[in-house]
Amino acid sequence: MEKVFDTDRRIRLGIWGLGRGQSFIRSAQFLNIDVVAGCDINPEMRESFARNVPGAFVTADEDEFLAQDIDAVLVATYFPSHAAHAIKALERGKHVMSEVTSFRSPAEGVRLVEAVERSGKVYNLLENYPFTKENMYLKQLWDEGFFGEFIYGEYEYVHSCRQLSYAYNFTVGGKQLLVEPGWVVHNWRAGLSTHLYNTHSLGPLMHITGLRPVMVEALPNTVITPGTLQAPGFKSSSGASLVRMSNGGVMRNLMGSMTMDNHMGGRLWGTKAGADKMTPGHLRLCIGADGSGMKTDVVPEWPEIGKLAEKTGHGGGDFWELYYFAREILTGEKAPWNIYAACDVTITGILAARSAARGGEPQRVPDFRDKAEREAYRDDWAEDVPNFDPESVFPPDADKALVKDFNRIMVELFHNYGAQRQLFTYVQGRRLYDNLADPAAKRQIVDVARGLPALLPRMAEYCRLAKRISDAYPDSIGGRTLARALAHLPLDMVLDHEKTAAEIADWLAKVDAAPVFGELTTHGNQG
Ligand SMILES: NC(=O)c1ccc[n+]([C@@H]2O[C@H](COP(=O)([O-])OP(=O)(O)OC[C@H]3O[C@@H](n4cnc5c(N)ncnc54)[C@H](O)[C@@H]3O)[C@@H](O)[C@H]2O)c1
Repeated sequence: MEKVFDTDRRIRLGIWGLGRGQSFIRSAQFLNIDVVAGCDINPEMRESFARNVPGAFVTADEDEFLAQDIDAVLVATYFPSHAAHAIKALERGKHVMSEVTSFRSPAEGVRLVEAVERSGKVYNLLENYPFTKENMYLKQLWDEGFFGEFIYGEYEYVHSCRQLSYAYNFTVGGKQLLVEPGWVVHNWRAGLSTHLYNTHSLGPLMHITGLRPVMVEALPNTVITPGTLQAPGFKSSSGASLVRMSNGGVMRNLMGSMTMDNHMGGRLWGTKAGADKMTPGHLRLCIGADGSGMKTDVVPEWPEIGKLAEKTGHGGGDFWELYYFAREILTGEKAPWNIYAACDVTITGILAARSAARGGEPQRVPDFRDKAEREAYRDDWAEDVPNFDPESVFPPDADKALVKDFNRIMVELFHNYGAQRQLFTYVQGRRLYDNLADPAAKRQIVDVARGLPALLPRMAEYCRLAKRISDAYPDSIGGRTLARALAHLPLDMVLDHEKTAAEIADWLAKVDAAPVFGELTTHGNQG
C-alpha cells in the first residue's frame, strides 16, 4: 500500500451513521486511519458494517460507541442530528468530521462553534464537491491570480432524489431498500427545505475563490415536483438564491430535485477569465480577459497524490476530505473546511430558507468567527421547516392493510429507474424522434419502447392501488402525494395497457421499417 504521510502514527476512527458513513472505509486505509468502531440504530446497517470491517466494534448505543478507544468520530447520522452528535463527540475528547450540513438552526450553530473552540479538537465539514479534479484545478488557477477578481458565478446541485423519502440511499441485491415496507417515510429527506442542502454548490465556489457569503436572498417558489412527499411545511422542489460574496461579487445558488440533474457548477466569471461546463471530465475556460475571448476545453490534472483519490469515488472528493482531516491531526497543517467555513456555508442555507419564507427579504450572513456577532443568534432556534414526523403520512387510525404499500408504490413509480421514467421517455422520445440528432438516442428510445409493454401491467396495478389509498385518505399527506402523482401520469395509457402495447407495436413496426434504422432521419446526417 502506498504511504501518504511520513509518519507511522495511526488515527483510530469511529463512524456514527453507517449509510453514507461507510463510503469512507476504503479511503481511510491510505491515510493512517483505522476504522475501529461503528454505530447505527438500524440493524441492517450494523450487519453491513460488520461485514465490511471484520473485527471492528459495532453497536446501536451511542454512549457505548463513544466510550471506545477512538481518536476521531465521523458523524453521518440524520441531517438534523449532526450538530448534537458532533458536540457530544467533541465533549468526549474526539476529533470530528461531520457530514453536510453542520447544524439545523443558527442557535445550534453558536453552540457547535463554541464546543469546537472549547475542545481544542479538529472539526471538519465533509464537503466533498470542492475536491473534484476540475474544482481543484480551478482553485489552483484562482490562487495564481489567473481569474482576477470574482464577479459572478452560477452553481448548482440539482439532483432528483424524491424516491429517497421512501427508500434508503443504498441498494440491496440491486433493489433500493425501503425505509419501511409500509408508510413510515424517511426521517429527514421527506421534509427538508431544498435551501438547506446547499454545500455542494456554494461550497465549491467558496473554496475556489476563498470568499465567504455575506448576504442571501431567495424568492419563494411553490412548485413541487410530482412524486415528492407533500409534507407540511415543504414548500418547493427547488431552492434558488442569490448570494453576495465578501468581495462584492454575487453568485446564484441552485439546489433541487427536478427534471434535469446537474450535480456541479456552473459558470464562473472573474475579471481576467471565465469558466463553464464544469462537469466531471469537462472544463471549458474563456481566456483573454474579454467577453469575445478564446473559449477552450482543458484537461485538468490532479495534484500530486491525486491518483489515489481517483480510486475512491465522488471524483476523489471523499478521499481529499479524509486526507485534509488526517493531515491536520498528524501534522497540524490546517484543513480547508474548518468550523468557521462550515458555519458560513450552513447558515447561508438556513437564511436562504428564511428569506424565501419572508417573501424574498434579504438576510445578512453573520460571521461566527466574531464572538460578538454570534450573540444575536444565540437564541435563534427558528426552523423554517419544522422537523417532520415520518409516521404522520396517514392518520393514526388508517387501515394499515390498505396503506401498507405506500412506500413501495412511490419507489416503483418514482425510483430513478422507475416506471414513470420509462413511460415518459417513450412518450416524449416518440414526439421528438424525427428531430433527434443522435442515432444512439433513437436506439435508446426504441429500446425503452420495446421494454415498456412488460412494465405497464404492474404499473397499472400500483396506480389502481394508489387511487384506492388516495380516495380513502384524500386530506392526508400520503393521499395528497398519491393524488398529485396520479394526476401527473398519462393514466389512460397505463390503465388501458393493452391498447398502449398495441400502439407501441405499431410505432415500432414503422420505425423498424426505416431503411437505415437509427441513422436515416429527417435531419439525418446522411442528408
Ligand atoms: N457529501 C455527500 O456527497 C453526501 C452523500 C450522501 C449523504 N450525505 C450526508 O450524509 C448524512 C447521512 O446520509 P445517508 O444517506 O446515510 O442518510 P440516512 O439518513 O439514510 O442515514 C443515516 C444513518 O444514520 C443512522 N442513525 C440516525 N440516527 C442515529 C443515531 N442517533 N445513532 C446511530 N445511528 C443513527 C440511520 O439509521 C442511518 O443508517 C446525511 O446528512 C447526508 O446529508 C452526504
